[in-house]
Amino acid sequence: MDAYIPTPALQALAVVGGLYLSAQVFNFLRVVLDLFVIPGTSLTKFGKKGSWAVITGASDGIGKEFATQLAAKGFNVVLISRTQSKLDALARDLETKYSSIRTKSLAIDFAHASESDYQRIASLTASLPLSILINNVGLSHSIPVPFLQTPLPELTDIITINCLATLRITHLLAPRLASQRHGLVLTMASFGGLLPTPLLATYSGSKAFLQQWSTALASELAPQGVTVQLVHSYLVVSAMSKIRRASALIPTPRAFVKAVLAKVGRRGGASGLAYTSTPYWSHGLMHWGISTFLGTMNQGLVWWNRRMHEGIRRRALRKAEREGRKVE
Ligand SMILES: NC(=O)c1ccc[n+]([C@@H]2O[C@H](COP(=O)([O-])OP(=O)(O)OC[C@H]3O[C@@H](n4cnc5c(N)ncnc54)[C@H](OP(=O)(O)O)[C@@H]3O)[C@@H](O)[C@H]2O)c1
Repeated sequence: MDAYIPTPALQALAVVGGLYLSAQVFNFLRVVLDLFVIPGTSLTKFGKKGSWAVITGASDGIGKEFATQLAAKGFNVVLISRTQSKLDALARDLETKYSSIRTKSLAIDFAHASESDYQRIASLTASLPLSILINNVGLSHSIPVPFLQTPLPELTDIITINCLATLRITHLLAPRLASQRHGLVLTMASFGGLLPTPLLATYSGSKAFLQQWSTALASELAPQGVTVQLVHSYLVVSAMSKIRRASALIPTPRAFVKAVLAKVGRRGGASGLAYTSTPYWSHGLMHWGISTFLGTMNQGLVWWNRRMHEGIRRRALRKAEREGRKVE
């Protein structure tokens, strides 16, 4: 027997379906316009050329690129990371290449930063007109590792660096931006925080923490004129990712940071996430596709992610064995 659905019910279903489809098409168009067409807020809205940007984890990878590209745009830079020699070399390079800018640097190990280390940051920056804070420093697991086998120091360092240091630096410097009623705080997140990532559980959790914290902070500081944005990224060529060759999905730090700085204030692929951006084009499309068709907490995706990281772990262990290295 044929099922009978009353015409008004069919019409109502068609309207709901039409609205849903239109919303998805509209959302996709917004993603494409954000990623490829509409420019972000000009950085000079956050501070004049000659004002100062503070970058953590500045001596390598993505942080080094933030420092370089901000210097190229006329911002003075405070460079913070562990190794003074790397900071000195970068500072020299930047001052030679961009003669109008100045640099200051500070060697701090955020895994073991003391009160006096944070005081050193406060003193170094006290008299500087600050405009931008880039919370870039981050640590991941040395190789994918089941949570129960994660060495305690690795677990503690990841949380201390990724979460506590980011909070402390922002707590120290953002009041200065709020009191002048302009400024920008960008925090580096990761697809690891967007998608629960087995075998990188602590890193994944630390970046998910940053998502909630940064979005809440952004809402608090928006009325005070400060823009706070979380930046999502899939893999980028760097020492942390251990990937050396760029591809469509894995940009160089230069290409990645160029997209970040060009798209401040736009969401890119980060649909439905307030004060959040996935600005690199292929990462943005991937983010949009995952959240639209699967959902970032999808069980099948978590399973696939676990299989992938188990494979990476196996290969890393085999490589360590070949090279006679001990890995926990
Ligand atoms: N690369 C990727 O695929 C990727 C993907 C998504 C998100 N991210 C995020 O992007 C950010 C930068 O990653 P990256 O790939 O550029 O990393 P990276 O190449 O390993 O560089 C890390 C930077 O942080 C500094 N650093 C490391 N440990 C530190 C500590 N304990 N105290 C102070 N400074 C420290 C390092 O300099 P020193 O060694 O001199 O201290 C270096 O300047 C991280 O937050 C990461 O989670 C990266």
